[in-house]
Amino acid sequence: MPLRNTPQRWGALSQLLHWLIVALILTQLTLAHLANDLPVGSRKVKLLATHKSIGITILLLACLRLLWRWSNPTPLLPDTLGPLERNAARFTHGALYALLFAMPLSGWMMSSARGFPVSYFGFFTLPDLVPKSRPLYEALLTTHAVLALSLVTVAALHALAALRHHFWLKDDVLRRMLPVSGADGTPS
Ligand code: HEM
Ligand code: HEM
Repeated sequence: MPLRNTPQRWGALSQLLHWLIVALILTQLTLAHLANDLPVGSRKVKLLATHKSIGITILLLACLRLLWRWSNPTPLLPDTLGPLERNAARFTHGALYALLFAMPLSGWMMSSARGFPVSYFGFFTLPDLVPKSRPLYEALLTTHAVLALSLVTVAALHALAALRHHFWLKDDVLRRMLPVSGADGTPS
């Protein structure tokens, strides 16, 4: 499979970044859920430290993904799609990109406001984004949770749309984001 995108399908790097970010987001939601159930203590701190480092990794991968998108062709949507569906796809993808940045940044700001600097897997410590402040921490905690709920909702709609393309409309939209051949015989 070629590394770069073509007007027909996503290349290997775009696919790798898409599915890696999906897997990391699922890991993030699991870690946050496990940490939420724990009492304050070293196990909770360790889980949240991993959550923070993976979150920063998602931020880096999202930057890489956008840079790669801008330096590559973007596969065209099938001609059979009407303007409403095209706009829905554009809006959903835009919202997902925005959330891929807003989620980690709100988490990073929340940690700074709480007075806990963010360490990247213990290798180095990131600078604080905002000063320590209890009310700001509480506002950012709510923001982080609301953004997470929005991400889960938009990503679920996006996944359902991809499955609709595959099973109902029977076009190539899902296949071209997978390392398999297209329905028209496009090599993988
Ligand atoms: C895409 C990336 C991320 C996702 C999907 C995500 C998701 C979540 C979710 C669902 C929660 C539980 C919220 C609640 O119900 O209270 C949470 C909590 C938390 N997140 Fe994230 N997060 C991400 C990135 C980050 C980053 C980059 C940081 C910090 C650098 C961070 C720091 C935290 C902290 C400290 C908590 C616990 C807050 C508390 O209970 O005091 N998150 N995150
Ligand atoms: C957290 C979960 C997810 C996120 C954040 C996400 C994010 C994105 C983004 C931002 C794009 C737009 C790519 C671009 O235009 O540059 C995209 C495309 C795509 N995603 Fe996802 N995605 C997620 C989950 C899924 C799942 C579960 C599926 C399949 C069931 C899926 C299937 C696709 C497909 C097929 C495309 C290509 C659409 C096209 O060719 O126009 N995604 N995804």
